[in-house]
Amino acid sequence: MKLIHTIAGLQTVLAQEKGAKKSIGFVPTMGALHPGHIELVKRAVAGNDVSVVSIFVNPNQFNNPDDLLNYPRTLAADCERLEAAAADIAFVPEVEEIYPEPDRRRFHFGSLETVMEGRFRPGHFNGVAQVVSRLFDIVKPDRAYFGEKDFQQLAIVRALVEQLALGIEIVACPIVREEGGLAMSSRNARLTATQRERAACIFKTLSESDALRGSLSVRALEQWVVSRINAVAGLEVEYFDIVDGCTLQPLNGWADTNCPVGCIAVYAGDVRLIDNIVYGKNPVSIF
Ligand code: PAF
Repeated sequence: MKLIHTIAGLQTVLAQEKGAKKSIGFVPTMGALHPGHIELVKRAVAGNDVSVVSIFVNPNQFNNPDDLLNYPRTLAADCERLEAAAADIAFVPEVEEIYPEPDRRRFHFGSLETVMEGRFRPGHFNGVAQVVSRLFDIVKPDRAYFGEKDFQQLAIVRALVEQLALGIEIVACPIVREEGGLAMSSRNARLTATQRERAACIFKTLSESDALRGSLSVRALEQWVVSRINAVAGLEVEYFDIVDGCTLQPLNGWADTNCPVGCIAVYAGDVRLIDNIVYGKNPVSIF
């Protein structure tokens, strides 16, 4: 695997590959790689001639400075994992390489960005769009791989690709879970053993809620999920919204959509966890 830190270095290698008509699969990450990331990498390796994985903790998408400061950074272990997954290139730029000047671009995603994560993390998706569009412009991949855990991010990235007419295929990959059901996340590394054990109730509750759809209204089911999780010591739900899987708009009733998705953000101490359930379809992807 090639470890490359500069855009010029990466583009020299990619120019050769593209000249030889090789397809490029791209996995953008912020590092602290876990098996969920590695699934994305394996898909990129299997589906393309050349796989590129970026590791870049994007300061522009952190609305909370402490979250940025505490974000786990594990480059040596990440490179070992990427080698083992047969990735071809790890692209690990410095902040100045990605943002030689402050990025003042403002993206607009309409109602996709005003709900859920967008509501609780103002500016977050603009920062995601800035870095993803910048990385897409540098790598110019044929395909890019994103996890369904970040359900709203996936919708935003698809909208970005459409708005900018980038012609990149966005491949959505199912959530990878720990043994107890907790969705894999780089932030899980910051959980204590007790928090990790308790956080398993997030997926358990989401799964159980699927069976109650027939007997509870959307609002009542939202309340049921929130109160079940809040009843666990040390967990606090920030939001749980049942939305349409395409528009991400909250449902008033089950008849509003044929693809209801429950999206949740929960604090375990100061660690913020997100997860979701595609009702009636989990674990099958809707994308
Ligand atoms: O999902 C992530 O890890 C990040 O939001 C991404 C897509 C790598 C952009 O920084």
